[in-house]
Amino acid sequence: AGALREIDKDEVAKHRSKDTGIWVTYKDGVYDVTEFVEQHPGGAARLMLAAGGAIDPFWAMYQQHNNDQVKGMLEQYRIGRLKGGLPAKAMADPYANEPQRLPALIVRTQKPMNAEPPKELLVGALLTPNELFYIRNHLPVPQIDPETYRLKVEGEGLRTMELSLEDLKTRFRRHSVVATMQCTGNRRNDFNETSRVVKGLEWDGGSISTATWSGVRLRDVLLAAGLDDEDPNVAHIQFEGLDKDMAETCYGASIEVEKAMDAGGDVLLAFEMNGVPLPPDHGYPLRVVVPGVAGCRSVKWVGKIIASGEESTSFWQQKDYKAFSPSVDWDNVDWNSAPAIQNMPVTSQICEPQRGAVVDDDEVSVKGYAWSGGGQGIIRVDVSADGGETWHTAELQKVPQKRGRGWAWALWEATIPLPKGTKGPLELVCKATDESYNTQPESAAPIWNLRGVNCNSWHRVGVTVQ
Ligand code: MTE
Repeated sequence: AGALREIDKDEVAKHRSKDTGIWVTYKDGVYDVTEFVEQHPGGAARLMLAAGGAIDPFWAMYQQHNNDQVKGMLEQYRIGRLKGGLPAKAMADPYANEPQRLPALIVRTQKPMNAEPPKELLVGALLTPNELFYIRNHLPVPQIDPETYRLKVEGEGLRTMELSLEDLKTRFRRHSVVATMQCTGNRRNDFNETSRVVKGLEWDGGSISTATWSGVRLRDVLLAAGLDDEDPNVAHIQFEGLDKDMAETCYGASIEVEKAMDAGGDVLLAFEMNGVPLPPDHGYPLRVVVPGVAGCRSVKWVGKIIASGEESTSFWQQKDYKAFSPSVDWDNVDWNSAPAIQNMPVTSQICEPQRGAVVDDDEVSVKGYAWSGGGQGIIRVDVSADGGETWHTAELQKVPQKRGRGWAWALWEATIPLPKGTKGPLELVCKATDESYNTQPESAAPIWNLRGVNCNSWHRVGVTVQ
């Protein structure tokens, strides 16, 4: 690197487009990333925010860059050394005020916090204790003063409203819903066992949890703002979070107006989780809870609700949580060609025993969870101890919920006798069926998708019989 030419800041700043070339600096390195821009997993537009200047502050915010693989990749594009040494001191750590978390959580990334509970704890209770509930953050947890907090409601055909927490609690009827939240990336690890790896957090089946959410119906708040759900100009309800990155871009998502306005859809603006105020990681003081729908649409720390003819323009609505054919990869993906994931497919997972466990030779007791999107409650879970040749029906534990409003998971357990003399490796398999009789595909390869979302193949766990 010593032999590389010195380049000054002003020259770097002139390289902000395809025509001039796109340059960035990191520490004292200067990089020409023109060729890489289109391949940036966070989208070209994101990387362009840093064009012509230092990426250090962006990487402080999006710390998934902070590993040898990403740094090694950047190094390939190095063209010089920044004159005058290090760029201006990086800004203070935006993650300095993060809440305390339980050490038992398995942390996938620290900044932003992404963590899942250990599987044996996940199946311990129908309602996941708040401290064990998986955490999926894209940005630092915002600090919000409940006294000055206001929810803004605006958009097509609406009277603009600003509601305090007190307004929400006193002017609207309170509702509680037991609903499972699941990240679209749950079980992503199972894709990595196919021949092709995927890009994303390495969730191992624990980015799913269940709580009793309490608050007010989104529908009631929209009606109070005068929403006419027959208005042809309103097709989507957008949500903006109060968590922002350095370019002041907030987390955002949207759902269809039909789901938002359906009294049986149970979409809440929740201020409580399992009977206590929402913890900071889960959206304090207010979050959207969209039962039956991918977790990414349940916007936490919600600050604004907008009725619109269009979906949220956010990166996460447009270019992230979508699934494609196995033939589509990062070099030929057209994000506009697939709809945003809303309802999720039926899935299940074996939580006990875990991969590699040693089990006794007379019988094996298997435990797990099953869940389906769109309010399709689980009606059956089948478990096999011979890789799917013969099946045993598991016993289900669930909260009673109406047909079409089965928002909560089922926990299940099956005790399977093993044939005399069974020794050595054994493959345990499970699959669930929901009330629409949807069931799971046998393997992950045919549903492989570049972003590794919606993995719902039969769950397989290899153990050893002793
Ligand atoms: N809302 C905001 N404002 N910011 C976020 O990063 N993450 C989303 C969603 N809502 C997110 C958000 C995603 S991808 C998921 S899966 C769920 O929140 C996770 O909710 P939890 O952390 O309470 O489990």
